[in-house]
Amino acid sequence: MRFYLAPMEGITGYVYRKTYQELFHNVDKYFIPFVEPHQKRDFNAKELNEISRENNQGYCVPQILTNQAEGFLRTAQALAEQGYEEVNLNLGCPSGTVVAKGKGAGFLEYPEKLDLFLRKIFASAPCRISIKTRIGRYEPEEFGRLLEIYRQYPLEELIIHPRSREDYYAGTPNWPVFAEALRCSEDTAKMLRCSEDTAKMLRCSEDTARMLRCSEDTAEMPRYGREEMGKSQEGSLRRQGTWPVCYNGDIFSAADYKRLLTAFPTLSTVMLGRGIIGNPCLIDEIKAADRLENGWEQEKDPVSGFKKDQHPGRDWDKIREFHDLIYQRYQETLSGDRPLLFKMKDLWCYLGSLYPGQEKQIKKLKKVQKKGEYEILAGNIFNIL
Ligand SMILES: Cc1cc2nc3c(=O)[nH]c(=O)nc-3n(C[C@H](O)[C@H](O)[C@H](O)COP(=O)(O)O)c2cc1C
Repeated sequence: MRFYLAPMEGITGYVYRKTYQELFHNVDKYFIPFVEPHQKRDFNAKELNEISRENNQGYCVPQILTNQAEGFLRTAQALAEQGYEEVNLNLGCPSGTVVAKGKGAGFLEYPEKLDLFLRKIFASAPCRISIKTRIGRYEPEEFGRLLEIYRQYPLEELIIHPRSREDYYAGTPNWPVFAEALRCSEDTAKMLRCSEDTAKMLRCSEDTARMLRCSEDTAEMPRYGREEMGKSQEGSLRRQGTWPVCYNGDIFSAADYKRLLTAFPTLSTVMLGRGIIGNPCLIDEIKAADRLENGWEQEKDPVSGFKKDQHPGRDWDKIREFHDLIYQRYQETLSGDRPLLFKMKDLWCYLGSLYPGQEKQIKKLKKVQKKGEYEILAGNIFNIL
């Protein structure tokens, strides 16, 4: 399984990504929260910090939010010049202001426009393009048409958060609709395998021809056949889309992951967002549970909440170390207590659920105005274990 870290504007900035990579190094791809194309310049100072190579270790993919092909291509070019080999198109942002402008999940309301946009960006893309999408603007029934459009283009990958924009983050992700997308990509993969087999066969016949020193004419035939066939098949397969599919949504525990994999045994890539922010050891727990025969369903202790040894793969000291390092780095990069505390409180909105029984302390922590108070409260929460 390949694991991706979801882009989360305001949370998974470069400090978070860099620190996570240093301590956990189990993410295959980090997605950088979106940038929007500017009219006059490529990037502002904050964006430059986000995308600079020195701040991005591991495989990182910047994301672009726009509905203008020219702006997308300009920004993609600037990112390619920074050394990025892939950019991601945001077709999932549900924010009201973004959607009202027909961007993010709002773009899904205009399939014809989207098709034209994709035609333009794929015609002259300076690097590979992946897409992160919801399954519709209003309802899941829209996804069939969207898939039809995506299948026309050679996406690097299609990451699906199976909710419509109307769902926002409510309810549960729509697995039947995701299943359809996965099936399409598997069918395509099968077709691709067939064409690879054909190419192999043709290569064999070429080798045989050479071995037997056949006449040049005979030897030319399979070569011609291979190239022509390769070209035409590749062309048609590209038009139908040959991309892999990645699942994203509501994987908060090893048990959630197990359910996902039971439903989709052929799935090869999962993107995790809130699950990792709320539990930085989540991927280690998934891997540990995978190794332990009966490790999937960990019972909660009804009296004391979670216990250390109930979660194979969870390393409480590492979680604290991760917190402390992020806190230290935010102090170095942000000016003043207010932005620092704002960032840390945001993190605790997710981290808090790791510490049941600590609700009062966490509530207090979210109200503190001074660094010193924050440090005492955070220390108390960590020391409970
Ligand atoms: C605070 C916040 C910020 C987000 N920022 C982005 C973003 O910049 N780009 C994007 O494609 N998705 C963004 N998302 C969506 C996440 O990448 C992800 O799709 C979503 O949280 C569902 O995955 P999860 O259930 O694993 O968290 C954001 C989500 C949240 C909660």
